[in-house]
Amino acid sequence: MSKLPLRIAVAGANGFIGKSHVQDILNEDDAELAALIDNDPSIASTAKQHGVASFADLQEFLSAYKAGDLKANAIILATPTHTHIPMAESLVGSGLTVLIEKPLAPTGDEGRKFLEICKADTNGTYMVGHHRRHNCYVRAIKDVLDKNELGRVVAVNGVWAQRKSEQYFSIPWHQQVGSGGVLLTNAIHEMDMLQYWLGNIEEVHAIEGPKERPFPVDSTVQVTMKFASSVIGSFLFTDVASSHLSWEAGTGDVGVFPATGEDFLTIFGTKGSISVPSLTRYHYGTRPDAEQNWNYSLEKDTTPQEWVDNKTSFSHQLKHFIATARGEASPNCSIDDGLRAVFVIEAVHDSLRNAQSLNAFTKRKHLIMIAQYAVLTEIWNDLEMLRV
Ligand SMILES: NC(=O)c1ccc[n+]([C@@H]2O[C@H](COP(=O)([O-])OP(=O)(O)OC[C@H]3O[C@@H](n4cnc5c(N)ncnc54)[C@H](O)[C@@H]3O)[C@@H](O)[C@H]2O)c1
Repeated sequence: MSKLPLRIAVAGANGFIGKSHVQDILNEDDAELAALIDNDPSIASTAKQHGVASFADLQEFLSAYKAGDLKANAIILATPTHTHIPMAESLVGSGLTVLIEKPLAPTGDEGRKFLEICKADTNGTYMVGHHRRHNCYVRAIKDVLDKNELGRVVAVNGVWAQRKSEQYFSIPWHQQVGSGGVLLTNAIHEMDMLQYWLGNIEEVHAIEGPKERPFPVDSTVQVTMKFASSVIGSFLFTDVASSHLSWEAGTGDVGVFPATGEDFLTIFGTKGSISVPSLTRYHYGTRPDAEQNWNYSLEKDTTPQEWVDNKTSFSHQLKHFIATARGEASPNCSIDDGLRAVFVIEAVHDSLRNAQSLNAFTKRKHLIMIAQYAVLTEIWNDLEMLRV
């Protein structure tokens, strides 16, 4: 028996990512638009174009849905970050399958509270929109790691460096601490991706660079991290640098940002290393263990490229969302997963606030004191000699 397309509403449908979700639903045979929700009044004309109902807020949509005036199976929350949890809470018990855009929440406390609430909701299914988990490069790397092809992973190193436009910052929440910033908006993707591959990050140390724009949000941050597995990592995040190195530039996964195809991340293991997006892997092949070291030439291959398809991770995510709503799959990015990424970003913010960045200076001061002590000792010895 053929299945009816899944009816999906989009909240924040007039925004950057909301529009992209709407387009993906329109392109997907197995889905149809149920309604558009946005507090921007122009949503009415957009909805009319697509022949669906529009609502200025989620409560209006819910009233129509509960009254049976509107049929929907699922909803995507693509509104600003600080609205995710209040909106998701009002969907509890509705029976809708809910995709909450990343980050799940601006703070760990809000996310943790929601986790408890939604666990008790046997009627609904919730997932977080860390779309990269559906991306072909991310899946290729996961396969390499799961098959232990790099041996014991010891480290990971990456860069996310892009220059955001002035227009981006004309949206007020993009400038606000607790909603915007390179960490909560962008770095959270990398943190989820790294945890998806390598398990929990347990420790972070962060240092902040210059703020090039007149906004309080973070924009340039270097993070070092340690995973529960002892793997160590380092990632540079900046949204002010004109650069060719980032997820978007490397993979071309977000169509509106031009691609460079350059590698922005490398994972290092005892038996090999691999970079993204080239998926170039260096290793010592079938050499005996005694010859797996720097005295021998490395082999190079790109076989994980077999995973690469020409589909965006958003279209894969939508298919997975549909399967989840139908009970054919369980969310591959649960609320729990989304929360773990929020915790890492929160720890990075804590590290910035409590930074022991005076260490280098303190050490230098210590050196100066040692030098001064040496001079004083010399003078004292000279005096002693004179006394004799
Ligand atoms: N998965 C990704 O790669 C990705 C990419 C971009 C943004 N995002 C996330 O999606 C969310 C939205 O980001 P964006 O860049 O599209 O933002 P945006 O500001 O461009 O769009 C947000 C939209 O929500 C509407 N809105 C605001 N408050 C509302 C409310 N209370 N009720 C209904 N509508 C409301 C706004 O009018 C706007 O149209 C953020 O949490 C962001 O982190 C995810």
